[in-house]
Amino acid sequence: MNFENILVENNNGIATITINRPKKLNALNKQTIEELHEAFENLENDTTTRVIVLTGSGEKAFVAGADISEFAHFSTSEGEELARNGQALLFDFIENLTTPAIAAINGFALGGGLELAMACHFRIASENAKMGLPEVSLGVIPGYGGTQRLPQLVGKGKAMELIMTASMIDANEAKEYGLVNYVTTLEELLPLAYKLAQKTLKNSSVAIGAAIKAVNDNFKNDVNGFETEIIQFGKCFGTEDFKEGTTAFLEKRKPNFS
Ligand code: COA
Repeated sequence: MNFENILVENNNGIATITINRPKKLNALNKQTIEELHEAFENLENDTTTRVIVLTGSGEKAFVAGADISEFAHFSTSEGEELARNGQALLFDFIENLTTPAIAAINGFALGGGLELAMACHFRIASENAKMGLPEVSLGVIPGYGGTQRLPQLVGKGKAMELIMTASMIDANEAKEYGLVNYVTTLEELLPLAYKLAQKTLKNSSVAIGAAIKAVNDNFKNDVNGFETEIIQFGKCFGTEDFKEGTTAFLEKRKPNFS
């Protein structure tokens, strides 16, 4: 894996992807989106990776948005294609991974940056983080799922306000809104992400993948999430992890999931 704009590290089942274009505040250009797709796909297919942490390099930005210089001259159809391809390649792709992805927001998460964090399964932030969807200030709307995922996370009224005022909120407000789960210092951000990742990887990764699918289906129009839950619940009964988890409980020992 040879990437120019991201760094990927893997340590005992926990992978860290760092978006690394600090001079451009880690803005998402086409190449970075493609590299992120490849990295997430490789990690999803690597059975030793149990949790993925996504963060930005430097102390200023997680991601300051889609790279404005790349789309400023786009036509209507190019704009539509940008959103469609980006959603398929990265944002929907992350949301539907079976490997849990945690966003560790270390600074500005604006526009596509907040959309990227919202595509992850949950988010934590450092005290200096600032979040928002400022697209209407550029004469456009969020195109990487922001109009859909922000209301899911914070409710319709708050989402409408944030989008139409193009406001930035700080980390504590984001926690109050339910957009991030924890706020900590910048130094403690990755340690906290790893602590949460460690807690996660003690559990069955097969069951976690099934739970992600069931929770996601709650938000899909054409799918009945309760039905998904029933099917995924049943499937778990056929797995080695279920045998190990229930046997370990009955034998009063800790499970050792494969
Ligand atoms: N796309 C492209 N380049 C971006 C960018 C983006 N979304 N966000 C920041 N950059 C670039 C700047 O152009 C600048 O590049 P330069 O040094 O070559 O001129 C560099 O990153 C540093 O940004 P700068 O604006 O000088 O930093 P700042 O501290 O003054 O302001 C922000 C920080 C985040 C408030 C400001 O960069 C900003 O508003 N960015 C755009 C946010 C946005 O609208 N995102 C949604 C896009 S759809």
